[in-house]
Amino acid sequence: MADQLYIFDTTLRDGEQVPGCKLNTEEKIVVAKALEALGVDVIEAGFPISSPGDFNSVRELSKATSRPIICALTRAVEKDIEVAADALKYAKRKRIHTGIGTSFLHIHHKLMSTEEKVLERAVNAVKYAKKYVEEVEFYAEDAGRSDNEYLARVVEAVIAAGATVINIPDTTGYCLPEMYGAKIKYLMEHVKGIEKAILSTHCHNDLGMATANSIMGVINGARQVEVTMNGIGERAGNTSLEEVVMTFKSHKALNIETNINTKNIYQTSRLVSNLMNMPVQPNKAIVGRNAFAHSSGIHQDGVLKLRENYEIIDPVEVGVEESSILLSARSGRAALRHRLSILGYVLEEEKIDEVYEHFLKLADSQKEISDEDLENLMGKVHRDKEHVKLDFLKVTSGKGLVPNAVVHLDVLGEKIEVSETGVGGIDAALNAIRSVINKNEFIDEILIQAFSRTTLALGKVHVQLKNQAGKMFHGFAAHQDLITASIEAYLDAVNKMGSIELKKIKEKEL
Ligand code: KIV
Ligand code: ZN
Repeated sequence: MADQLYIFDTTLRDGEQVPGCKLNTEEKIVVAKALEALGVDVIEAGFPISSPGDFNSVRELSKATSRPIICALTRAVEKDIEVAADALKYAKRKRIHTGIGTSFLHIHHKLMSTEEKVLERAVNAVKYAKKYVEEVEFYAEDAGRSDNEYLARVVEAVIAAGATVINIPDTTGYCLPEMYGAKIKYLMEHVKGIEKAILSTHCHNDLGMATANSIMGVINGARQVEVTMNGIGERAGNTSLEEVVMTFKSHKALNIETNINTKNIYQTSRLVSNLMNMPVQPNKAIVGRNAFAHSSGIHQDGVLKLRENYEIIDPVEVGVEESSILLSARSGRAALRHRLSILGYVLEEEKIDEVYEHFLKLADSQKEISDEDLENLMGKVHRDKEHVKLDFLKVTSGKGLVPNAVVHLDVLGEKIEVSETGVGGIDAALNAIRSVINKNEFIDEILIQAFSRTTLALGKVHVQLKNQAGKMFHGFAAHQDLITASIEAYLDAVNKMGSIELKKIKEKEL
């Protein structure tokens, strides 16, 4: 049977210490409920003595959740512990997390104390917390840089005083994975009474090794990991929940299981990112936008043949709908066909070459091709067989002028030139077209977007037309000139209305 690894989430305490990430109590409740649904075992809800807001959040989170243990942080100070116990009053399951620095630096240059006095304060804090709650977790701050022999003495003493969980923080993210693993091993082998407590990892990411260190801690005997969603936290952050959980899920031989409902990972990650205003880096493991995106042609082809060729995790397992095939100039026909089929375009073998040619031209001018680009592209390919084509467009407009459009159309091979006015350039051009080809449709919606901060922006237009029977036709186009894009999108939709309707219009109108 696999060993249970407890997930202690500190998104709302250590994660929330990041400037700009502060949440109000209502937002913290939303996150706490999401963490509960995710299946975390412990939620560190705050540091109650630090502010009335933190106190209130711990209190409200205690009321709002039922399954996870709610934990409150304190220093090894009696007043802190009293306030934490009060804040935890309504928690169904509660824990006080108290501690003190144990490295030479912290003892002599922060606490201005001695090894013996720190040991005494540690023991007294645990005994005091024990008066209020059954579960007391002790943290040896800066354990990563603490002398192992002294650390073992402190750990042994606080277990004897009643601590049930011992947190070994690599507060400054200094350790190498082997060092951190060896530290946990040392404690497992040298602390009398270690079987009465659980060792916990708490690794910061200053050297990018938080996850590796936590994993090594678990391999060497720790059975709780302290983590945050998306790895947020002080400086370079904490160990990320999703990385640790998916590492153990992917490496069954390590024989470790968690209570995490992994299908909730992605949505919880998004929630935390949005509420905390902390964008997730695109290449972030598990939850980044590109974590399951394949852009090289060889990889795309491989994934389409068998997902496991280039993916070690099924994206569905973490709540991502499916791996996204990112289309770029490096993509091949297989990827293009696949993406088009998702969008509802099933192309015959000979058609794909023609579409691919257009696709490559577009991909040369843009880094990435989105679904919307493909819709535009399909509109363009369609237009090559279209009934109505725009040959020429000239719009005159400006302050004090009545907007006027001159439009040259090719309607089923027949060349038509027409000119009209309107309230604006687009209106004038549409009036011109409508004066010759169509009176049976109306524009239900027209969406014009410009993508870029510069005047070179590519304008994308989506036109929704309705015919007399109420049937909807969608037209798409993109152009650096917004009026041209609008008219092409409109004609794209008109062409999609089908030849019969156009013939009728032609017979009637031309
Ligand atoms: O990093 C750290 O040492 C901490 C402790 C307060 C647990 O966050
Ligand atoms: Zn920390």
